[in-house]
Amino acid sequence: MPFFKYAGNEPRLNHLFNEAMASDARLVMTVLIQNGKGLIFEGLKSLVDVGGGTGTIAKAIADAFPQINCTVFDLPHVIEGLEGSKNLSFVGGDMFNSIPSANAILLKWVLHNWSDEDCIKILKKCKEAIPSKENGGKVIIIDMVMMDYNLEKGDHKSYETQLFFDMLMMVAVSGKQRSQQNWANLFSDAGFSDFNIIPIPGLRSIIEVYP
Ligand SMILES: C[S@@+](CC[C@H](N)C(=O)[O-])C[C@H]1O[C@@H](n2cnc3c(N)ncnc32)[C@H](O)[C@@H]1O
Repeated sequence: MPFFKYAGNEPRLNHLFNEAMASDARLVMTVLIQNGKGLIFEGLKSLVDVGGGTGTIAKAIADAFPQINCTVFDLPHVIEGLEGSKNLSFVGGDMFNSIPSANAILLKWVLHNWSDEDCIKILKKCKEAIPSKENGGKVIIIDMVMMDYNLEKGDHKSYETQLFFDMLMMVAVSGKQRSQQNWANLFSDAGFSDFNIIPIPGLRSIIEVYP
């Protein structure tokens, strides 16, 4: 049984996994804010955090930017019983079917769970949910961009960690980590015109992708 379906049938695993994701979300949100990268949300009127788990990131964005209507979109068993607030709501569904419309879609640590074929399906659904580039539409991805390892200058531990994540995704969920070229191919195959990588401390990057 695929991992996320299994989690839907095993409340203990569902809870443990969601808590682990919330913990990582707190870490990444702190890094974003401390490094002034909250700017990527500036000017948005609405945002859907697709595969947003129990809403840690969306809550932080909703609090920091009261003018943004934030939606957490995840599988029904993940968001069950969660309450929104004035500018935060929870919607249950399947991103392979349809994604609620917004100015911007956030995909944090989602695409590395999926094969190229599935990522293209997800990205196409995101593209249907956002306006054109001229009208401010974008997809914001927070995920790893596999570094080119240079024995002279490279950071051994970071490179090793990326490879371990690559293996973990391959074994646990048929996903993988991607190089800049792998990401570029995905975006072009899903019909996007351009992208921009913004590095942040740690092993993840922000990737803004434009329709
Ligand atoms: C690795 S977790 C990342 C959670 C969150 N974005 C974060 O970084 O803290 C992947 C998320 O994708 C969700 N997910 C998996 N399949 C999905 C689907 N078909 N539709 C919507 N969400 C899905 C999972 O339930 C899980 O919350």
